[in-house]
Amino acid sequence: MTKATNITWHETAITKEERRVQNGHGSIVLWFTGLSGSGKSTIANAVSKELYRQGINEYVLDGDNVRHGLNRDLGFTEKDRNENIRRIGEVAKLFVDSGKIVTTAFISPFRADRKQVRKLFEEAEFIEVFIDCPLEECEKRDPKQLYAKARRGEIKDFTGIDSPYEAPVNAEITIHSERSSVEESVTTILDYLRLQKII
Ligand code: ADX
Repeated sequence: MTKATNITWHETAITKEERRVQNGHGSIVLWFTGLSGSGKSTIANAVSKELYRQGINEYVLDGDNVRHGLNRDLGFTEKDRNENIRRIGEVAKLFVDSGKIVTTAFISPFRADRKQVRKLFEEAEFIEVFIDCPLEECEKRDPKQLYAKARRGEIKDFTGIDSPYEAPVNAEITIHSERSSVEESVTTILDYLRLQKII
């Protein structure tokens, strides 16, 4: 819903299509979803490095980083997570309009939120990437020691502990990060982008 009145939409002088032609590749969002500690940021940054190396215009939006700035007013209640994902969806759309490949690394635990974001894009522009890793493995890794804190009751509404994670049912790409290396995961994603003629 739009709150402001008296606003009009301006067509841009340069279209998304023109920017894609100038860049020499497509522009899409790789929407990563998965538990904390599943490897989203690690794989997203490895993909970023490889795309950058190939001269592709790309950018990563990462949950922990965006929550320091744009979304620092949001916590982890269901309502705040809805708003977190809504804003990132809109930002990702701007990046796609600007001709880039944007990778987002947010838990994005709710199916309905991800579906809403998908609706912002044309069909081929939204690629959901499920970083599938069992909770036990994420908890064993616990790189930020947050699962330990959540188990002790020091953090509430922690995804996988006392807040749900709704796994995708129709993700375009699924990465089993427990059994694939980072390099293999990058290859899977880049192969998909090539197959779809995005790069
Ligand atoms: S999301 O659910 O709204 O998509 P987001 O990806 O932005 O979450 O942020 C998750 C990161 O915040 C986690 O990787 C973790 O480092 C940190 N975090 C802090 N509190 C929580 C919590 N209650 N649940 C999940 N992650 C949390």
